[in-house]
Amino acid sequence: EFKPLVFSGVQPTGNLHLGNYLGAIRKFVALQENNDCIYCVVDLHSITAQLVHEDLKGQIRSIAAAFIASGIDPNKHIVFNQSAVPQHAELAWIFNCVARIGWMNRMTQFKDKAGKDRENASLGLLAYPSLMAADILVYRATHVPVGDDQKQHLELTRDIAQKFNIDFMEHIRSAGYGVDMVVGEEPIHAYFPPVEPLIGGATPRVMSLRDGTKKMSKSDPSDLSRVNLMDDAETISKKIRKAKTDPDALPSEVDGLKGRPEADNLVGIYAALSDKTKEQVLAEFGGQQFSVFKPALVDLAVEVLSPITAEMRRLMGDTAHIDAILRDGGERARARAEKTMREVREIIGF
Ligand code: ADP
Ligand code: NA
Repeated sequence: EFKPLVFSGVQPTGNLHLGNYLGAIRKFVALQENNDCIYCVVDLHSITAQLVHEDLKGQIRSIAAAFIASGIDPNKHIVFNQSAVPQHAELAWIFNCVARIGWMNRMTQFKDKAGKDRENASLGLLAYPSLMAADILVYRATHVPVGDDQKQHLELTRDIAQKFNIDFMEHIRSAGYGVDMVVGEEPIHAYFPPVEPLIGGATPRVMSLRDGTKKMSKSDPSDLSRVNLMDDAETISKKIRKAKTDPDALPSEVDGLKGRPEADNLVGIYAALSDKTKEQVLAEFGGQQFSVFKPALVDLAVEVLSPITAEMRRLMGDTAHIDAILRDGGERARARAEKTMREVREIIGF
């Protein structure tokens, strides 16, 4: 049996938004109760799409501040930045040799981020899922809370673990590591666990406020497309009031949201922020116009986000404190990651 362990990461690029909060960070907070958790600012990933950053250090600190302001306890759990633990990159190299080029070529995020000029995308952008697999498996983590945009990458993580386990099965056994388990129907002796994605929730994917068919994203050029965690109440209000909608009233049944992506998205956001189901939200607002629903959503969003924003601002003013948390988290993460890497090097035969 593998010991349950939660791992997840967020990139230090651009402003954190409501999608990151509802799709990821809020789950990180909830999982602390009953699990050992490792939460990482994945700075090595942030140079895959854009090499040079204006203030990478400041961005790293701001993600750490968001974690802590949202309620993650860096003393009971681990908060650190990826580049402080070189074992991630070491295992990623090994996984580059385990994974097949065809697996990487199928990743939809690579296709989206590389755009039309694929030949000119960085090699790191193509190999990104290998590093993500290493981030998780260097701790032999079993559970990964992420938004639904990461589902395909997590399936690849399972494929990499599976191929490593099978290719090295005799070495793993003779070195005295790993556990007997059944994957599908196959009994195997595994060193890396099969990772379980934790994707559920009312809104596994929060969509853009300007286009209900695109996900809310840090890289969207329109700032009106997302509510940022650092937005003040007035800005949140403006963005939600301007959010694209259709002219109809809200339906009273979830079925009535079909074909209305913008309405569906706003109802989903309301449900997630209030810990209700979409059914419950529509029981309250069905038949109402957006002129009634949007102000209610603004109030709710401000109520949930403003304490987090205030605490983030406070923490960002105390960089020595944030740096101390990251340093301490990095040391604890490194000790665990090195234990895995000693075993992996032995399994491979280095
Ligand atoms: P982005 O996709 O905005 O660049 P990251 O890749 O750093 O953000 O993602 C950080 C976490 O937030 C991941 O778990 C990702 O799945 C989640 N996430 C990002 N955007 C959304 C969204 N629009 N809805 C739900 N979850 C999201
Ligand atoms: Na993402």
